[in-house]
Amino acid sequence: MMRSFDGFDSLAVHAGREDLAELGVHALPIDLSTTNPLPDVERGGLSYEAMAAGDHPTAEGGLVYARLWNPTVARFESALAQLERAEAAVAHASGMAAMTAAVLACTSLTGKRHVVAVRPLYGGTDHLLASGLLGVEVTFCSEQDVEASLRPDTGLVVLETPANPTLELVDIAAVVARAGEVPVLVDNTFATPVLQNPVALGAAMSLHSATKYLGGHGDVMGGVIACSEQTASLLRRVRAVTGGLLHPLAAYLLHRGLATLPARVRVQQASAREVATFLSGHPAIARVYYPGVDGDPRGLLGRQMRGTGAMIAVALEGGPDAAARLTSSVRLFTHAVSLGGVDSLIQLPAALTHRPVAEHARPAAGVVRLSIGLEDPADLIADLDQALGVQSTPWVRSSATARSILNTPDVTTTDTSASRRRSTACATSSATGALAAPREPHRAALP
Ligand SMILES: Cc1ncc(COP(=O)(O)O)c(C=O)c1O
Repeated sequence: MMRSFDGFDSLAVHAGREDLAELGVHALPIDLSTTNPLPDVERGGLSYEAMAAGDHPTAEGGLVYARLWNPTVARFESALAQLERAEAAVAHASGMAAMTAAVLACTSLTGKRHVVAVRPLYGGTDHLLASGLLGVEVTFCSEQDVEASLRPDTGLVVLETPANPTLELVDIAAVVARAGEVPVLVDNTFATPVLQNPVALGAAMSLHSATKYLGGHGDVMGGVIACSEQTASLLRRVRAVTGGLLHPLAAYLLHRGLATLPARVRVQQASAREVATFLSGHPAIARVYYPGVDGDPRGLLGRQMRGTGAMIAVALEGGPDAAARLTSSVRLFTHAVSLGGVDSLIQLPAALTHRPVAEHARPAAGVVRLSIGLEDPADLIADLDQALGVQSTPWVRSSATARSILNTPDVTTTDTSASRRRSTACATSSATGALAAPREPHRAALP
């Protein structure tokens, strides 16, 4: 049955469930079969051949074997593709398995052995590319140097926005223009499809560590890439031989997570704004990294990203020792890697998630990353306050003040003209100091 609706929240609840009433079920079905009965040798063989080439199974030949196709995984892929406004999606066992498949599909399968990567990137991605493990040569560069870094054998441009861990925003459309014919992969893990749709902005692929916001509960690993059907075919070819398929139980959990994704992101983002505002005014904090906190001169908030998200990073006045003390003094936050779940996490990227990154490109040792969950923001602020060891002044506890300080676009905004107006207001207000906390925060140099 086709339901009728216009909103993104409705889509998040109903995508990939179009045939459930017809099947006579209400919850998502899980198919755990590793093998499937074959109609006969000829038809089974043809279906196998189609899937090994990256296509869908044939109607007559069946699914053959779970490494080639799984209906529960395919159902999740269909839902995610709809949320990302893309033709297709291909799911993998983890975000890194998805990144590996993307690099192989755009290099090994095309004979182009060069990748351009815009730093900063998640430490695992940076390490994978720099290690040479996938047989590619990589040029790491800034957003502005993408064009100059291209070579005739460049098969892929990789970027993250907002970037892990210091939340730099990269102009997706500008990089796509600079990359010309070369496909651009955007890691959309931090923004989620709620806040940003890279494929609609011209990127060839939008990658998620589904382990994070898509699952949202810290209990499932996965990775997924939204893209065109043509690119999906290449990714499925790689997945079929390398075996990085998402498990159907994980696909079920991830698909279930999509229904609450917009609501979770909205609440987590609202709390993150309050926490970022609190931290901006705290004397122990040298710098807050959060989209829009230092203004938005290129107007990316609203035009590219429909909100500011729920990830924050901070540099501490006291440097690495103070940063380590903060992570071990929190009582409500959990000191742990990963992000995007219902509970708030805190960690030191230079020591953990970004440890394998080359020293000159690694985030500064005094930078701490926070993933804001669904707890009461006042409780999160109180926890940080006690962990920082300094009592906050009354103004920082007022959520009304916090909201007025971070006057950046909201996730509910989908109309681009409206969001552009709001983003202009944001850029203007930051230029006039409206984003600054009442007490001027100390600023440290970028790591
Ligand atoms: C931005 C980003 N991309 C990719 C990954 C890798 O994902 P996974 O851990 O699911 O392999 C991570 C993991 O933290 C990440 O933060």
